[in-house]
Amino acid sequence: MEELKILECNNLTKSYHKKPVVNHLSFHVNRGEIFAFIGSNGAGKTTAVKMILGLVPMDSGEVKFAENIRVGYSPETPYFLPFLTGYEALDYYGGLQKIPRPERRREIVKLLDTVGLENSRTKIRNYSKGMLQRLALAQSLLGSPDLLILDEPTAGLDAPGRVEIMGLMETLKKSGRTIMINSHILNDLERICDRGIIIKNGARAGTWNKTDLGTKTLEEVFLDLVGGTTK
Ligand SMILES: Nc1ncnc2c1ncn2[C@@H]1O[C@H](COP(=O)(O)OP(=O)(O)OP(=O)(O)O)[C@@H](O)[C@H]1O
Ligand SMILES: [Mg+2]
Repeated sequence: MEELKILECNNLTKSYHKKPVVNHLSFHVNRGEIFAFIGSNGAGKTTAVKMILGLVPMDSGEVKFAENIRVGYSPETPYFLPFLTGYEALDYYGGLQKIPRPERRREIVKLLDTVGLENSRTKIRNYSKGMLQRLALAQSLLGSPDLLILDEPTAGLDAPGRVEIMGLMETLKKSGRTIMINSHILNDLERICDRGIIIKNGARAGTWNKTDLGTKTLEEVFLDLVGGTTK
């Protein structure tokens, strides 16, 4: 794989009950960019992301990561043990990554601050949806991953929260991280992403590049390609 690419997907294919959900999907993500992975509800984004991460077995296709990279993932529906605090949950995952205890403590305190969560005694069962999203983002950042794969990281966040998280994405990019992000808030993606793919029925409907958008908005490009319907 060329050094420029951090992730390459070739012909990813998956059917459920004989219905294709991801259909010969190929794309790549370059190092250092924010890559938008766009599609209507049910287009196959979450399934493709899980195939990339090995969480869902693929029928066929190939996923190649650049050598020796670390990958962080924030799932569409984050789940944490409800009786833990945010700190404790991150401590548990940091332990699984074998981050030494003093370093882990420093990193978690910093990460909670980075995602705008207080290091409080509040149990996760009492978290709001936005707080859970922020904790999932913090978890994906544990261990300083090179590539972040974020499945709707701002779903459920209020407008100031979204602006804040998009700002964080830009900061992470500046610090050399690569981000693959999927979201339905196309205005947000247009602002922060360099490039992306739009999928429909699990297959490529088109690609998008910030530099050749011209006067069109990403939403217009999207609606032209997918016809403004679901699926
Ligand atoms: N485990 C499963 N069993 C059967 N069908 C599934 C399964 N997982 C996903 N699907 C189907 O695959 C299709 C794609 O779902 P997926 O969750 O990948 O879409 P998505 O693009 O992430 O949508 P959204 O924007 O709503 O999150 C849907 O029709 C869904 O019903
Ligand atoms: Mg999804």
